[in-house]
Amino acid sequence: MNTLRVLLLGDLFGKPGVNIFIRHIDDIRKKYRVDATIVNGENTAFQNGMGITPDIMELFKKYKVDVVTSGNHIFDKKEIYPYLTNNSDLIRPANLPNIAPGKGFTTFVCQGFLIGVINIMGRVFMSQHVECPFRTIDSILMYLSQKTPIIFIDNHAEATSEKLAIGYYFDGKVSGVVGTHTHVQTNDARILPGGTAYITDLGMGGALNSMIGVKKEILLQKMLTQMPAKYEVATEPPYVLSGVIIEVDTKTGKSKSIETIYLVDHESL
Ligand SMILES: [Fe+2]
Ligand SMILES: [Fe+2]
Repeated sequence: MNTLRVLLLGDLFGKPGVNIFIRHIDDIRKKYRVDATIVNGENTAFQNGMGITPDIMELFKKYKVDVVTSGNHIFDKKEIYPYLTNNSDLIRPANLPNIAPGKGFTTFVCQGFLIGVINIMGRVFMSQHVECPFRTIDSILMYLSQKTPIIFIDNHAEATSEKLAIGYYFDGKVSGVVGTHTHVQTNDARILPGGTAYITDLGMGGALNSMIGVKKEILLQKMLTQMPAKYEVATEPPYVLSGVIIEVDTKTGKSKSIETIYLVDHESL
């Protein structure tokens, strides 16, 4: 096999996000001939969309997800800490402190080829104080690039400038740099000059008429009054599922194509 087709999905938010993934994953795999699946799961906790729990990881395994990436919400649910320590199919931003639970990158085998996945967090407009994303990935690549040319980066950041900078800096060094965290899919998916597939943000899975998956009324009220608010998962249809399919050359690790998926349905939960 000369190429692999990798599905990457943006932040799945709460039960609506996990459920739209379950409803469509088989069809997507068939339609796009998907070989490997990587999803961002930092908002999958059913209770309020903040963090992820071990039972959600079991569900992802059941649906044959290869790697789950995350972001700033990774430590929101304490019950995930032992899982992060003991497993390598869920990763957290590599530039968080080393002493925190979990790993920042991982590998898995797909059709006999090793695929590397790195999770990184931006520093612009993010609340956590993290190490330099550029130098952190540089040091991971010194090790990982010896193992495989097929490497994807989940670029969990807020500012389009910083996300694009990470894309350009690693162009030609990895197969794909895909953004997460803003939950809104951008219209800039392309192959960069060096052969790296890029999108500023994959978008999300969850209630479409929400704000980042949260009930819009709650966030609007918060913005209007500047008073604290308790987030609740938006549950009303329609629902959205978004991400990309990247086709990568298994020999060079360069990408041949990137295609966006943006799917809306009106199924009930
Ligand atoms: Fe998120
Ligand atoms: Fe995030």
